[in-house]
Formats: sequence, structure tokens, C-alpha cells
Amino acid sequence: MRIGSISEDRNLEKRIAVTPEIVKKYISLGFEVCLSENYGSHLGIKDQQFIEMGAKIFENEIEVLNLSQIIVQLGMLSDKKGFSIKENQILVGVLNPYINKEKLENLARKKINLFSLELLPRITRAQSMDILSSQANLAGYKAVIESFANFEKAIPMMMTAAGTVPAAKVLVVGAGVAGLQAIATAKRMGAIVFATDVRMASKEQVESLGGKFLTVQGSENLETEGGYAKEASDDFKKKQEELLSETLKKIDIVICTALIPGKKAPLIIKENMVDKMQSGSVIYDLAAIQGGNTSYTEVDKIVEKNGVKIMGESNILNKLPISASSLYAKNVFNFVDNLYDKENKKININLDDEIIEKTLIK
Ligand code: NAI
Repeated sequence: MRIGSISEDRNLEKRIAVTPEIVKKYISLGFEVCLSENYGSHLGIKDQQFIEMGAKIFENEIEVLNLSQIIVQLGMLSDKKGFSIKENQILVGVLNPYINKEKLENLARKKINLFSLELLPRITRAQSMDILSSQANLAGYKAVIESFANFEKAIPMMMTAAGTVPAAKVLVVGAGVAGLQAIATAKRMGAIVFATDVRMASKEQVESLGGKFLTVQGSENLETEGGYAKEASDDFKKKQEELLSETLKKIDIVICTALIPGKKAPLIIKENMVDKMQSGSVIYDLAAIQGGNTSYTEVDKIVEKNGVKIMGESNILNKLPISASSLYAKNVFNFVDNLYDKENKKININLDDEIIEKTLIK
């Protein structure tokens, strides 16, 4: 059984799907590992480190694709470079099934087995494969670091002989995986933290991290059975706007993380709300690539409105690609491990297994 991976377009993606540590794990499972030349060189990982763990390095990327029964990547293979996969090959990655729906379904019709890891069910057995959680956790942390770096005041309260510097006030919108890590990171750095979410279950989690939960009064719990958020009603949106408009006047930094799976990100912080914020405040919008939680968000730009900076990036994980790759590669390994029938030494696409059934593009 051969597993392979080729370099991503490094202008867009700096993470890698196979690390030297993980090569060793695939080899112990009985796999051969094929990688393209300079696979991790941009992260300071030399080809030799992969070779020492047992991987084979190929100059030609197409050769890696042709030789491998399983191909593991971050995203889709680039059509532009003429990369393609054949019948019965397997591609595992973050394939963006909502945006690439038609393209993926066409490939699936050609009997190419595509597994999109965003579709993993949030069940206990899938936790070690959960790329959404591993990457969102790092994104939440890094959004705080990036916004604090762009905030021109101190974060913790400091009492000095020359006077007192007040603690910065942070609001986290959306308290899922990224939001909870943002709360924890901001608290650790000495900020006063507020958070809000449409799922009532998140209140207790916010409070356990020392955050103050802002409840939209009289609202119903907008949580699906799978634990995700439902789209809010107009009445909810109006009440949320009233609550946040008042709160934002005294907030220094906002971390936006609100998402609804498969839909455009909800617009939560509108122009008139930003206009009321204090000059010098910073908003980091982690939902930027899904359309943004603010009216002013522009991907990969810092927009300035009345002295308020609004930031959002296409891929914040490119700012900590080594940590992100280490977790991603482990998630992917655990997924492949579950696909592999060790007794018969073959891949078993067992559709009775919820993890396999839900992630396979049909
Ligand atoms: P996500 O990335 O889809 O969304 C981020 C957050 O935004 C969510 O908390 C969501 O409720 C919130 N949100 C959506 N619309 C909003 C609005 N209009 N206003 C305010 N907040 C809004 O969510 P994530 O981080 O993937 O977590 C979703 C759920 O999955 C949570 O219940 C989490 O605890 C659960 N989870 C379960 C796991 C497991 O059991 N293995 C692993 C990871 C997460």
C-alpha cells in the first residue's frame, strides 16, 4: 500500500499533510510513503529528515500521484498543473465540499474516492481525526495574537507609579472551538473577556474559562442536533444587534468566529456598530473567507474605519504552519488508519462506518 503527498501551492498553503513523525507511523502500519522533492523545505524540514523516517522522495510530482493508492493533501489538487487522479485512487483532504460541490461530484462519478475531512461527524471516535477542531483551535489563538499586535495599547492592567493602565476588553463573537481558544488566550494575557453565541450550551464553557457570557434576551437556543449553529431569525438578529451595539462602545478588541456550516458567515457587526466603536479598537474576523462577520471585512487587508482596524485573512494557519501541520498530519493519519483493514492489508471503504460514510463524496 502506497500513500503519497505532493507540495501544495505555497503562495496559498504552507501546511503539509505528512510530517517526518507521521511517515514513521505510516511505515509501521505497513505503508510506503512517497513525497515530492522539497516537500517540507519551506518549513525548514529537509528531504533527508523524511528519508531518515523511511519516505521515498520523487523529483516528479506526477510520479508520486501515479504511484500512490492514497493521496493526502490539504486541499484539492491543482488542475492548472495538470494533476489528476485515476479510478479507485483515494484523495483525503479539506476539499471544501460546499464550494466545490459540482467538481467533486464529477470526480466521484469517475469512481475516484474523495474523502473530505470537514464532513467528519462530531462523534467521540472521530475526535482524533477532527481537523476542524485542531485547526480552529490554533486559529483562535493566532487571531488573538494578531489583533493584540495591531492594538496600540497594553492588554493587562498595570499599576505603576506613573499611573494605571486599564485592562483591554475583548469580545469574542461565536464561542465554538476557535472562540473558546480565543477566550482562553485573551484571558491568559490579562484581558477582560466577554463572549456571545447562539448556542446556549456555550454559556457554561465561556464561564468556565473566566469569560462573561452575553445572552441575547428572550432568544431560543439555536443549536442543531449535531451541535452546530442554526441560522438566526430576524427577531434574534435584531435583539443581538441591540445587545452588541451597546457592548461594542466599550470593547477594545473583537474576535469574530461565527459560522454556520455550508452557509455564508452571518453578518453580525454592521457598519453603524463599527462606527460607534472607540478609535484604536481592532476587529479580527476569522470568518473573513466565508464572507465575514462584519460589513467592512476584506480578505487579507486591514481596513480602517473611523480609527477602527478590521482584519481578516484567507488562511491564518499559514502564520503557524508547523504547529498546524503537526496536528493536521496526525488527524489525517488517524483517518487513514481507520480506513485500513490491517488483517487483510487493504483499504476497506466500509459504508457502515459512520466516519467513512459521512466523509466520502457521493
Ligand atoms: P463553527 O466553527 O461552525 O462556528 C463557530 C461558532 O459560531 C459556533 O459556536 C456557533 O454556534 C457560533 N455562531 C454561529 N452563528 C452565530 C451568530 N449569529 N451569533 C453568534 N454566534 C454564532 O463551530 P465549531 O467551533 O466547529 O463548533 C460547533 C459545535 O461542535 C460546538 O457545539 C462544539 O462544542 C462542537 N464540537 C464537538 C466536537 C466533538 O464532539 N468531537 C469537536 C469539536 C466541536
